[in-house]
Amino acid sequence: MAKIEQIDMARLPKHIAIIMDGNGRWAQKKGLQRILGHRSGVQAVRTVTEAAAELGIQYVTLYAFSTENWNRPQEEVDALMALLVDTLEKETPSLKKNNVRLRAIGDMQRLPEATREKFCRCIAETAQNDGLNLVLAISYSARWEITEAFKKAIQMAQEGLIKADEINESTIERLLSTAGMPDPDLLIRTSGEMRISNFLLWQLAYSELYFTSVNWPDFGKKDFYEAIYQYQHRERRYGKTSAQINDNK
Ligand code: IPE
Ligand code: IPE
Ligand code: MG
Repeated sequence: MAKIEQIDMARLPKHIAIIMDGNGRWAQKKGLQRILGHRSGVQAVRTVTEAAAELGIQYVTLYAFSTENWNRPQEEVDALMALLVDTLEKETPSLKKNNVRLRAIGDMQRLPEATREKFCRCIAETAQNDGLNLVLAISYSARWEITEAFKKAIQMAQEGLIKADEINESTIERLLSTAGMPDPDLLIRTSGEMRISNFLLWQLAYSELYFTSVNWPDFGKKDFYEAIYQYQHRERRYGKTSAQINDNK
């Protein structure tokens, strides 16, 4: 396991995206209800937020609830929405104190009103902070996001604001919910699953992927440092050859 001293502070990832998976299995292994796994997962969110802020990472995007997760048993969905409200309520003061700016991506219209309101308030209260950007993906799916971008582009073209043949990659980037954010350099997924599950499909095009078998509630600072350390030992070639990359160093 890597220690903080082994991390090269000059080559930190700007943006780390995390698929926080394995809460249910963590609880079930202990003979507990799944929701207790989600509750324990909140501690891991705190730990990672703190570690990222300490290192000076600019963006952390956490996949907290997917569009597909609406299909879970109603009891679990309700418990997750309540946990979100509760967590936002409790954590807002420490986000403010630690200069963390909360943001959200996803279909906020689908959230129960109480959850949406809490989000809006916490986002507004931390809007002036210029430290870590903590982005929560809630009711989010990448295909939903890309579909929305299509709709906006077509509408803008119809209104004469853009020309269809002038649409390029940056036009599309500006229409995504991550507009203005750098693409994730590193994607972490916990719990041993090796899939993307409809997360940031556009933005992950050239991210380094890191999978660990640790379940999310057990994910600690050491695991986070290890992921960054592994990332720093990858060679990002963007289609070029290794020799080209090394020549430019
Ligand atoms: C991730 O943990 C949290 C959410 C998807 C909300 P899971 O609830 O998916 O846990 P497992 O995969 O069933 O263990
Ligand atoms: C992905 O986890 C979504 C979140 C972590 C919020 P899931 O547990 O829902 O993913 P699948 O369904 O196993 O791919
Ligand atoms: Mg899961």
